[in-house]
Amino acid sequence: MIFGHKTAGFELPSWGSDHKCDRLLSAALKSRLGKPIPTTDPPEFPYWDAAYFGLDKVGIFRDSTPDAQQQILHLCSMELLAEAYFIEKAGVGYMAKMTLMAETTQERMLYAMFGADEATHLGQIISFLPVEPAATSDKFLQLLSELVETEDKSLLLFLMQVVLEGWGLTHYRSLAKHCRHALLGQMFHNFLQEESRHHAAGEMIFTATTLSMASEHAIIEALTLFLQMVQAGPQRVVGVLERVKGHFSGVQKVKIFEELDTETHSGTRLAVLHGLMQPPNARGIVAELQHRGAFQPFSPSVCAALSEVAVLG
Ligand SMILES: [Fe+2]
Ligand SMILES: [Fe+2]
Repeated sequence: MIFGHKTAGFELPSWGSDHKCDRLLSAALKSRLGKPIPTTDPPEFPYWDAAYFGLDKVGIFRDSTPDAQQQILHLCSMELLAEAYFIEKAGVGYMAKMTLMAETTQERMLYAMFGADEATHLGQIISFLPVEPAATSDKFLQLLSELVETEDKSLLLFLMQVVLEGWGLTHYRSLAKHCRHALLGQMFHNFLQEESRHHAAGEMIFTATTLSMASEHAIIEALTLFLQMVQAGPQRVVGVLERVKGHFSGVQKVKIFEELDTETHSGTRLAVLHGLMQPPNARGIVAELQHRGAFQPFSPSVCAALSEVAVLG
C-alpha cells in the first residue's frame, strides 16, 4: 500500500512497570476510571469455552485429551485478547492522528477525548495479559497497522471509525456476553458505550465528507482485503488447532471448516459489516464490493486451500 512514515504507533515498545513515570500513568488511568485497574491473576480456565469458538462441533477437538482441549481453548482465548490489545493500541494512535487532522476546535476536543477512552481501554486490557504481545504475523492486524498509517482522512474515517468501530461494538458485546471470567466480561461490557460513541461520530463526520475518486478507490481496495479475511472463515481457530494437534491434510482441513460451519460463521459477520456501511456517500463503495462478491462467504474447501497456502492469518 501507499503509506509512508509510521506515526500511529502500532509497533511502539513498552516501558517496564519499574519506569519512574508508570505510577503517574496508573494514577491518570485510575482517576479516569474512578477506580484502580484491578490486577488479576490468570484463571485456571480459558476465558471463552469450546462452544464460543464452535469447537464443540469439531471431531478432532472432541477426540482430544482434556489437557489438549484446555491448551487449544487457552490459545484461542489469548489470541482474542491479543487482538483486542492491538485494536485498542491502534485506536490510541488513530484518535491522536484524527486530533491533529481535526478541522474545528470541537472536533479536536472530541478526538482528544476519544483518544483518552482508547488509552483507558488499552490500560485495562494490559492488566489481563500475562505479557504484552510484541509483534504479530496475523494478517488482519498487519492490515490494520498499515491502514492506520494512511494520510487519507476519508479512508481513515470509513475504515477505522465507521466499519471497524462498528464491528468492534458487535465483537465486544459478544466477548462480554460469553466470557467465563466476570471481571473481564464486565470490562468489555463497559467499553460498549464509548465504542458506540466513536462509531456514531465516525458515521456523522464521514457522511458530511465529499469523497474524492481516489479515496473511494482506496476504500474499495482496503475493504476488499479486509472482507476477504472475513470470507475466509475462522482461520485463527484452525491455526491454533494445527499448532496443538500437528499438521492437517487438505481433506482434514475441509472437514474442520465444515464442522466449524464456516459459511454461517462468515455469512453472519459479512451481513453485520454490510449493515455498517450505511452512509449515503458510501453507496458506490458498497455497490462495487457487492459486484466483487465481497459479502459472500467462501466454501469450506476454499477456506482450507487459503489456510494451506497461509495467505490469511
Ligand atoms: Fe476502544
Ligand atoms: Fe473505539
